[in-house]
Amino acid sequence: MNFWDGLPRPFTALAPMEDVTDVVFRHTVARAARPDVFFTEFTNVDAFASWRGRASTAGRLTFTSDECPIVAQIWGTKPENFALTASALERMGFSGIDINMGCPAKDVVKIGGGSGLIHTPALAAEIIRTARAAVELPISVKTRLGYSKADEYKEWLPVILGEHPANLTVHLRTRKEMSNVPAHYELIPEIIALRDDISPETKLSINGDITDWAQIKEIHNKYSAVDGYMIGRGVFSNIYCFDGSEHLASRDELIRLFRFQLDEYDKYKRIDPTFLGDYEPNDRVLRRDFNGLKHFVKVYIKDFPTAADLRAKIYACQTTDEIRTVLNNANLS
Ligand SMILES: Cc1cc2nc3c(=O)[nH]c(=O)nc-3n(C[C@H](O)[C@H](O)[C@H](O)COP(=O)(O)O)c2cc1C
Repeated sequence: MNFWDGLPRPFTALAPMEDVTDVVFRHTVARAARPDVFFTEFTNVDAFASWRGRASTAGRLTFTSDECPIVAQIWGTKPENFALTASALERMGFSGIDINMGCPAKDVVKIGGGSGLIHTPALAAEIIRTARAAVELPISVKTRLGYSKADEYKEWLPVILGEHPANLTVHLRTRKEMSNVPAHYELIPEIIALRDDISPETKLSINGDITDWAQIKEIHNKYSAVDGYMIGRGVFSNIYCFDGSEHLASRDELIRLFRFQLDEYDKYKRIDPTFLGDYEPNDRVLRRDFNGLKHFVKVYIKDFPTAADLRAKIYACQTTDEIRTVLNNANLS
């Protein structure tokens, strides 16, 4: 079943973000305003394929059935490990599998993964084909325009489209541009034309600098052949960004949402790897990183006179209960 075919048009997606979009934060975003599709953080297929490495992937692959459709994003370089990981993810109940061909991180690119695959198009195509042969789930790809120059998209995107992925998400920048220049919206019409020409059945999602529904409407008015829009960092400045009514959250609503995220953290802080299937059992108790929670404080505690003071007190906390006490005693004038 290809869930991409049943989505509204245009659809919205929360971007995969390492150390951000775990089950805790996805649940919190859903509580604020739900996107049409969720993605996990990316999981390395080589780690997943190794008996020793598999347990380390459990935190990023934890999800609940009410998050569906949810896509597991994977990365790596060995086609056989994509096949093995994809079929395990299918058994776990994910709705789809996305292959990362856009990550710019040095340690990922150095071994030829993420945007490094732009330099090895034959391998990129083989990875898509091998993953597809292993599962019935829809296979999608997230990538960038190119490695060094924006016009590399003319050669690179046809390689991906030639494999007919269920969805292609294009982050409208090159690897070299990282996130340092404005996204190249001006190329959308040419990318649509490539999709229509090579693989009209592939959904096309656009990513880069999109902040909220108001902006999605504006882009979609111009480029109505785009199927979906993916928001990443925009969720930090407005966690209600997927709300079609353009809801402006009050200070108290944001703090309530923060308390919800703390509760979700407590619920999922002990990571249970048994759902992964085969893994090396050991006595180690895996825990979700507590300090990672503090990256989110600015999402909620902002835009009032004592916000900076309150944030500083929260940064000093060592437990969720300490944070709750700080919030209970806060001067919210
Ligand atoms: C903290 C962080 C982590 C990210 N991790 C991933 C990832 O695991 N997989 C991926 O495909 N992209 C990842 N990205 C890139 C985003 O998915 C997205 O493509 C990028 O932020 C541009 O979109 P935006 O301008 O809406 O943020 C990450 C971005 C950020 C800021």
